[in-house]
Amino acid sequence: MNTDRVTVMDHAMVKHKLSILRCKDTPSKLFAELVGELAMMEAYEATRDLPLEDIEIETPLAQTTAQQIEGKKLVIVPILRAGLGMVDGILELIPAARVGHLGMQRDEKTHKPIPYYAKLPTGSENRKILLVDPMLATGGSAIMAIEHLRKMGIKDITFLNLVASPEGIEALLSADPDVHIYTCAIDERLNEDAYIIPGLGDAGDRIFGTK
Ligand code: PRP
Ligand code: URA
Repeated sequence: MNTDRVTVMDHAMVKHKLSILRCKDTPSKLFAELVGELAMMEAYEATRDLPLEDIEIETPLAQTTAQQIEGKKLVIVPILRAGLGMVDGILELIPAARVGHLGMQRDEKTHKPIPYYAKLPTGSENRKILLVDPMLATGGSAIMAIEHLRKMGIKDITFLNLVASPEGIEALLSADPDVHIYTCAIDERLNEDAYIIPGLGDAGDRIFGTK
């Protein structure tokens, strides 16, 4: 595994919140809140090295040179549906970010993603993209999403994920030579239904209470 392109969030608060997320008795409201909080923490880490520019400001006491984020606004792109749960948390950290959407539905038998929707802000090819999906199982959905973004001419893609399988990480790193993956945990394996073990179940159903 090329570990240069994978960051596993190593923070006590992340581990604590992820344990509550995994627990089958955690209700949808709390589950959705935790997805947002973990997404915000990941976005905080993933934007650590954004380019800065100097600006002149006046404090109440003196003039000084301060810094602000340079360049174009970021675009958050959730993979529907479950990725939607990560958007608001990231927007709290980066309120000026734009939001695009990519709809993918995994076929229950083949486990292959079926794309059903795509809408990105104009000019996305010149912006940094935070592609977000809480689950990276076979990797099929994230790979298809990144292929779509690359075909649009997008160069700068970071994938924010909460729980990954080793198979999904390997597949995504092989499929795309450049994407950087942030995740809170790399679990043991996939089961015969291509669900992550131990994982947290079906993220979309748990966020939206559909089961
Ligand atoms: C889930 C999840 C990912 C995908 C991961 O979505 O949110 O998008 O599966 O699996 P993969 O890595 O094997 O592609 P799902 O297709 O179940 O749709 P949902 O978000 O609408 O529930
Ligand atoms: N999608 C989910 O929501 N959970 C998994 O474990 C795998 C795919």
